[in-house]
Parts: sequence; structure tokens; C-alpha cells
Amino acid sequence: MRKNAMVCYFSASGVTATVAKDIADAIGVVTYEIEPKVKYTADDLNWQKDDSRSNREMNDVKSRPEIGGEPANIDGMDVIFLGFPIWWYTAPRIINTFLEEYDFSGKHVVLFATSGGTDIERSIKDLQNSYTRIHFDGGKKLDVGTPKQELRAWASKYVS
Ligand SMILES: Cc1cc2nc3c(=O)[nH]c(=O)nc-3n(C[C@H](O)[C@H](O)[C@H](O)COP(=O)(O)O)c2cc1C
Repeated sequence: MRKNAMVCYFSASGVTATVAKDIADAIGVVTYEIEPKVKYTADDLNWQKDDSRSNREMNDVKSRPEIGGEPANIDGMDVIFLGFPIWWYTAPRIINTFLEEYDFSGKHVVLFATSGGTDIERSIKDLQNSYTRIHFDGGKKLDVGTPKQELRAWASKYVS
């Protein structure tokens, strides 16, 4: 039987959002955007500035940026595809906020990420180590423009 799935994602500048929507389209499931309560400005995202908001958050393992918008309805979902941009080789802290705010027991979480080149392996390891009770099913770095067929082939193995 086909499993219930959805695609949840955080995207500061739209790249991960595009990939998230393509995955959702490819397998016919809904998306949920993890919206920061306080949106990131271009200045916030300036990784070359030591004290930019993103750098301050990433330098503080305990940082948990607040999520705004509507809550996610993950009830009844067997599989959550969870996407984010890689920040300083790992997942942005708002992904920790999301993983700590919801109950993932009985669910499988499949990660995906976009980046300027960094692979997703370290993000997977970091999240697995932080949340040992969540069942992570690995993940994949994906690029904008990945053909739907390829996305479907990748994603459908987790839902069938
Ligand atoms: C604060 C910050 C840190 C980043 N760190 C990395 C990194 O470590 N490795 C990398 O390849 N790209 C890095 N990037 C680039 C983003 O991962 C990339 O542009 C991503 O596709 C943006 O996705 P979004 O538009 O969904 O936010 C960083 C970007 C920002 C803003």
C-alpha cells in the first residue's frame, strides 16, 4: 500500500522551495513551508559578515529560530520529506526547531538539501546524532532543474 507522505521545507531564498515543489509534484503530495517568524533579510544571510543573523545562529548550537505561519499537519503521515539549504555544512537551526516542535514517532524522515556544493552527508549525521529517536531514512542533495522523472524515481522508493 502506498504510504502517506508530505514535503516540508525551509527556504531562505527560494532555491530549496523550487526543489521541494518539484518533489511534491513528482509524487503527488502536499508541501508545507517552514516559515521563520522573522523572515531572513539579505543582510541576515550574509555569510561573509561574522555577526550576521545566520552566522550568529549557526555559531550557537542552541539557537532555535521561531517558526511562524500555520502549523504543519503531519498527523497521519508515514513519511516526511524534509528539505533545507545547507548553512555552514549543516542544516539551519530552524530545522532543529521544527524537529523539536513536532512528534515524529512512527514516521520516517527523508532529508533533502540544496547548497552551493556541500554534500548532505554531514547534515544527515548531525541530525541523526541530535535526534536519536527520530527514524531518519538518509537523504540527498538535489539541484534545481533535476528532472521530475529522476525526482520521482528517488522519492517514490520511500513511499511505496
Ligand atoms: C548563511 C549561509 C551559509 C551557507 N553555507 C553553505 C555551505 O556551507 N556550503 C554550501 O555549499 N553552500 C552554502 N550556502 C549556500 C546555500 O546552501 C545555497 O545557496 C542554497 O541553495 C540556498 O537555498 P534557499 O534559496 O532555499 O535558501 C550558504 C548560504 C547561506 C545563506
